[in-house]
Amino acid sequence: MFPFVFAAAQSGSTVNPKKQELIELEACAGSALQGFRPIADTRTQRFNGKVALLTALCRGGQKAVQLRFTPWVDFSNYWGTGDLSSLPQGYFSTSAPQFRGVSGALLDLEYQRIELIKFNLFDNNGTYEDYVAGRNGLVGAALKTWPQMRLPQSSPYYAAVGGDGEQICKGELIRARTLTGICNDIRNPLMGSSGTPFARNVEFETTFPDLEQNQLTQNRHGGRINLLTPDPQVISRKLFTRVQSNPDACNHGLGLPNDSTDANCDYQKAPFFNVLAAYWIQFMTHDWFSHMEEGHNAAEMMAVGCTTQKVNGVETPLSPDDAQKLGCRPADRVDKAYVQQDSAPGTFTSGGKSYLTRAPKTFSNNNTAWWDASQLYGFDGTSVKRVKRDRNDPAKLLLEPVAGKQGGYLPVLAADDPAAPQWAGQESVAFPDNWTIGMSFYHNLFAREHNIFVDEFRKQAAKAPNADSGLRNPSDPARVIRYKDVTSDELFDAARLVVAAEIAKIHTIEWTPQLLYDEPLYKGMNANWSGLLGTGDPDDSKVLSDIVVHGFGKSKNATKESQWYSVFASGPGIFGLGSKVPHYSIANPDNVNGGVNHFGSPFNFPEEFVTVYRLHPLVPDLIEYRDVNQDPNQIVQKVPVIETFEGKATDAMRSRGMANWGLSMGRQRLGLLTLHNHPMFLQNIHLPRLDTPTQQVDIPALDLIRDREHGVPRFNEFRRQYGLRQLTSYDDFVDRRLPLDSPARKQQEDTVKQLREVYGTHVCDSSKVITDAQVNDDGLPINDCLGHPNGSVVDNIEDVDTVVGWLAEYTRPHGFAISETQFVVFILNASRRLFSDRFFTSSFRPEFYTQFGVDWVNNNGPGPAMMEAGTPNGHKQPVSPLKRVLMRNVPELAPQLKSVVNVFDPWGRDRGQYYSLDWKPLAASAGDPAFKQ
Ligand code: HEM
Repeated sequence: MFPFVFAAAQSGSTVNPKKQELIELEACAGSALQGFRPIADTRTQRFNGKVALLTALCRGGQKAVQLRFTPWVDFSNYWGTGDLSSLPQGYFSTSAPQFRGVSGALLDLEYQRIELIKFNLFDNNGTYEDYVAGRNGLVGAALKTWPQMRLPQSSPYYAAVGGDGEQICKGELIRARTLTGICNDIRNPLMGSSGTPFARNVEFETTFPDLEQNQLTQNRHGGRINLLTPDPQVISRKLFTRVQSNPDACNHGLGLPNDSTDANCDYQKAPFFNVLAAYWIQFMTHDWFSHMEEGHNAAEMMAVGCTTQKVNGVETPLSPDDAQKLGCRPADRVDKAYVQQDSAPGTFTSGGKSYLTRAPKTFSNNNTAWWDASQLYGFDGTSVKRVKRDRNDPAKLLLEPVAGKQGGYLPVLAADDPAAPQWAGQESVAFPDNWTIGMSFYHNLFAREHNIFVDEFRKQAAKAPNADSGLRNPSDPARVIRYKDVTSDELFDAARLVVAAEIAKIHTIEWTPQLLYDEPLYKGMNANWSGLLGTGDPDDSKVLSDIVVHGFGKSKNATKESQWYSVFASGPGIFGLGSKVPHYSIANPDNVNGGVNHFGSPFNFPEEFVTVYRLHPLVPDLIEYRDVNQDPNQIVQKVPVIETFEGKATDAMRSRGMANWGLSMGRQRLGLLTLHNHPMFLQNIHLPRLDTPTQQVDIPALDLIRDREHGVPRFNEFRRQYGLRQLTSYDDFVDRRLPLDSPARKQQEDTVKQLREVYGTHVCDSSKVITDAQVNDDGLPINDCLGHPNGSVVDNIEDVDTVVGWLAEYTRPHGFAISETQFVVFILNASRRLFSDRFFTSSFRPEFYTQFGVDWVNNNGPGPAMMEAGTPNGHKQPVSPLKRVLMRNVPELAPQLKSVVNVFDPWGRDRGQYYSLDWKPLAASAGDPAFKQ
């Protein structure tokens, strides 16, 4: 079929554009005839982000065809998925190819999500056997409740949820988000609560590769890796260090006296993402997960490397001289990770195959896994004591005036507040760890947002005291709660729900589309939130929502349920799924809980998710400080981030003020997630709490150690497990799209040499099978030679730490601040944290949020939605949620925000047309020296 098209596709020769378009259209017809690819039955048949020849030709022309043979996903080569240059020239129109490219990319992403849901859920609570083998005639993927998710007898709420009978949350426990996260799912009270184990996204058998517990891992790593091999500090110094043009001006990231502008720490900058975006994601992770408890790990200390390096392929001890030259410290020590369970896991057999019931070790997530703003409001009995409410209005958080500054500021920790010693002098918040000016900024901002919601609600209550607020009390569901009857506690809880939902919205439709700055992801993320339909017609959303919740959500057919649920959810969007059922009643558990879907596996974040959020390169060493009351184009000081660490942030915030920090971090570009780009101050940070000879630690090196402690598979197996193509040598990292003689390519090739030096090579043995997650194209098992001849010298690509691997991914889709390996982890887990949370689905209702709260979330603040002028990247869109939050809480920034479309795009940048990444100033910012760098 279509021999002419195949021949044209494979020839790679250039033809007249109009003729080429006709060939592509014929390829589209051929691709359509071949039909949709089936969802894989086994993990070895997975999609891998690679499409058939005709599909590639249809969606992206010759370029897409030629790049099919790289390990990287195909969608990034489709028409319209980049900037203007990704649209064809000389075709009959650009809109038709653009549509084929962008919608094709969306389809690829949906396939990935379906298969991720199918193959990558591994719960550590003991439910995995049921997931694989099913229970009481139900297949695992259709299970909705688990005995392991019951509250234990030791819980103070054990009796309230039903004790040893059927457990179901009710009354006070379902009215709002609970402190520890219990009762989000009312039939699985324990799910997502603080202290429950991190899940996994990879087969349990493939975790803890250092332990070499099975033949595949032994074959894969050949005894070459363990906790400190290859040496993490050596990796940090050789592969992570920022190269400085003038080391004295950087001073190891400490800057110069008096915050002098003569200071300079070079770093590789992302032109389309700012420092506010860096701190935003740290602020998010402090909501989602933590391995630490109150600022520390386990009591036992351990060495952290700086002891060996590979010399001619052999691990060789480092001499003191070598260590000094590298800049690492053999005397550093750090506290070991807490382990929740390390007894040998059980095994079971299903379908003739043997499985582990959990990972060999598990670790507890000490935060609630829910997106519940727990970093602000607390996640256990200790953290909540640091959350101060305003005595004059207990619906509000306590904020204090600061002389000469607008708006309130968080109070400082008091002597009798529970706090680790290193937090002394910090602002009092539920999650105070790893605190710098960025955390102070967002905590203050959202405390203000909480309070402004309360103020506006009270104004509404004064205007219409007898009107129905929409709120209901589950203990007395029939009683209408009028505005004037809403208690301070009820209002506090509603404000928390609103703030958490706003944060989720900002993250989903503002932060992420700027992190992944291209058209498919703009559409995809908006689809996650408010639906792909995008017609603006609420009836359309309702119809699809009904199909999803009542058709597929209730299905006992696991294939239908898990495979297509996420596709249909893209229609109405995940947010609010199941909230529009007729005759909704807070007294009906099926209404309250009916919109959630856990896809057969209880929700928590996996260890692999933590790994891909180790984003320390985002942080610059120095903040380019500006003053709103002077010329905003002028950098008036260079403030070292470390000068705002822990208690030092308080004075930095209060003396300089929210507005100046907002402007400074809004204008400055963040650090690219790439090798040779970790902050110098983090490699040398002083942590006196460690009480060790150096009192120092290299955080980038520690990132590697923690992943090894947590048993994260190394990079290549990590990719195979997630349904991405493996690499067969370090050379695969080089971006093949770059011209052979370009300086960027040369630099990448140099880094590849360094990777080879650090991780080494070995003589391969093709009799050793190294994985069961994928097979070769010919259907044969993947072996130690990775396609190279038996006995040849191959790269130890299997040993590369996952963080190192994704930082080395130079080949990325357009506008991706992260790699495709990180992205695939997000596709799965970012969707799940919406799908699983009833407050974002069936309990996104006035009965919980108040009508005023529901409108606030939908309209990005009080009053009707505001629309942005023009059509940025071709879209009519509301004024972004974070822009609205900033405008009302830090009004001094309003003039600076006028030209801002997305708060995470550097404020003075001209966004140009269609996803431009150019670093070019708007006319008003032409004088800004940052644009001359
Ligand atoms: C700006 C200053 C920052 C400082 C001083 C800092 C410091 C630290 C420290 C001391 C740890 C704990 C290491 C351990 O004992 O395991 C850590 C962990 C971590 N950091 Fe940062 N960090 C900063 C920024 C960021 C940013 C911007 C991100 C972006 C998401 C981030 C993500 C993480 C993650 C994911 C972990 C692991 C947490 C866990 O294991 O639960 N950090 N950081």
